Amino acid sequence: MVSGMIETETVMPRVARPQTRTFGAGIRSDVERTGSPTMKAIYLEKRAGAEGLVAGEIPRPNPKDDEVLVKVVATAVMPTEFDWFTTFTLPFGEPRPFPVVLSHEFSGVVEALGPKVTGVSVDDDIYGLNDWFINGAQAQYCVVKASALARKPKSIGHIQSAVAPISALTAWQGLFEKAKVERGQRVLIHGAGGAVGSFAVQMARARGARVIAPISSGNFEFVRSLGADELIDYRKSWNARGPL
Ligand SMILES: NC(=O)c1ccc[n+]([C@@H]2O[C@H](COP(=O)([O-])OP(=O)(O)OC[C@H]3O[C@@H](n4cnc5c(N)ncnc54)[C@H](OP(=O)(O)O)[C@@H]3O)[C@@H](O)[C@H]2O)c1
Repeated sequence: MVSGMIETETVMPRVARPQTRTFGAGIRSDVERTGSPTMKAIYLEKRAGAEGLVAGEIPRPNPKDDEVLVKVVATAVMPTEFDWFTTFTLPFGEPRPFPVVLSHEFSGVVEALGPKVTGVSVDDDIYGLNDWFINGAQAQYCVVKASALARKPKSIGHIQSAVAPISALTAWQGLFEKAKVERGQRVLIHGAGGAVGSFAVQMARARGARVIAPISSGNFEFVRSLGADELIDYRKSWNARGPL
């Protein structure tokens, strides 16, 4: 699911529309007293599912040390984030403080740099993936370690680059960290026309493997264009146990 930035186009989870309010009276008065900047965000203020999402204003994060403040242009949210351990828990098991902002992959523009950041500049177009335990990108701004972002390719827009990090990382981990795919091997890639599979086909081919893809026939042209060598229409000749 892809959603555009709050300032532009936003596609919300279909299950619920967010309520609109400003987060926590205490925080609001702090913001007013100190003049700290706020930002628009979609967030949870208690443990809940999509029905608990709120659209409002929360404090804007500050980039520390090796962190970058990103002005979000597009972000992707997974419905399963409501059930992730990291959404409501800190690394050592303590409850995570609210507000909690979902969506950890994003594309945007560098707004500000922490004092130890090198190799990236304000106004660079970048995309990346931030820490699951901190607030995500369904907001005007998010912070990310400089090591977890990359320059956005000029050949694609922000919406396309926002959906690349998690599915591409998943494909990389499966192929090379777990299966240790090498040149000359044959690789069977399920879901080759999907988010993870479309990256996996390209990565396996780039490594020099031969790719076999069980897909539905409507995806043949697309998956062949990604580099798959053998296409099998799983609706006609395949089931969970293999060829019919
Ligand atoms: N997306 C992520 O970032 C991510 C991250 C971690 C884990 N995952 C997991 O990775 C898996 C794939 O996720 P995804 O996001 O890539 O899904 P997706 O974009 O919805 O793609 C799923 C693909 O599965 C294929 N498919 C459906 N039924 C099939 C069947 N009976 N036999 C063979 N292929 C079938 C579909 O192919 P046709 O269109 O050809 O029918 C579709 O292209 C899921 O289990 C997901 O939870 C995803």
